[in-house]
Amino acid sequence: MELEKRLSAFAIEQLQKAYEYCGSEGTIHFYNYWEQNVLQYCILKVIIYKEQQEVEKELKIYDQFLKSLNDNPNLVKTLKVIHLRDLKLICILMQKCNINLQDYMRKSLTFNSILIFFHQFLNGYQSLYQSRVVHRDIKPENILVYFQNNQPIYKISDFGVSKICHFYFNTQSQVGTAQYTAPE
Ligand SMILES: Nc1ncnc2c1ncn2[C@@H]1O[C@H](COP(=O)(O)OP(=O)(O)O)[C@@H](O)[C@H]1O
Ligand SMILES: [Mg+2]
Repeated sequence: MELEKRLSAFAIEQLQKAYEYCGSEGTIHFYNYWEQNVLQYCILKVIIYKEQQEVEKELKIYDQFLKSLNDNPNLVKTLKVIHLRDLKLICILMQKCNINLQDYMRKSLTFNSILIFFHQFLNGYQSLYQSRVVHRDIKPENILVYFQNNQPIYKISDFGVSKICHFYFNTQSQVGTAQYTAPE
């Protein structure tokens, strides 16, 4: 509860400093805090919405993360979701990664590292598929890289336009980024 209060206050303060933002529909901030004497390095994504229905799908997906998807190392871990209904804000506290794939790809990758990427990406994608989450905006900026013992771990992120499909093949609207549109 204490953390929730601090996070909400931080999110509001950051929004007031509007010039500090990056990202298109939300703002991304570094957020570090102590938990049991260990400093946690996190990212806080703040989403501002007008109508609650705009964010309902995304909220359901974060719910699914907290239930099961967080176990997959190839999906960005969601630590906490706070919905401030009065302010029409959603604060998502997540694991901090080091770089996005777009920037990481600027250095030339070996064939072997591309194979490792595909293997990890498919592992993340498989869990989404099993939970019937259709990401709908897979692209290099939405895949993050986390270095563990100097080895990259690729993590799918940004569920801003994702959906949970209760029946297969029911996504008929065109969203995301044209160059990367997925077959679903
Ligand atoms: N957990 C994270 N760790 C490190 N960087 C992140 C994290 N989440 C987002 N970012 C950075 O912020 C960028 C935009 O975040 P994203 O969630 O894709 O928001 P948007 O809705 O604006 O596309 C990412 O491409 C990445 O560079
Ligand atoms: Mg994005």
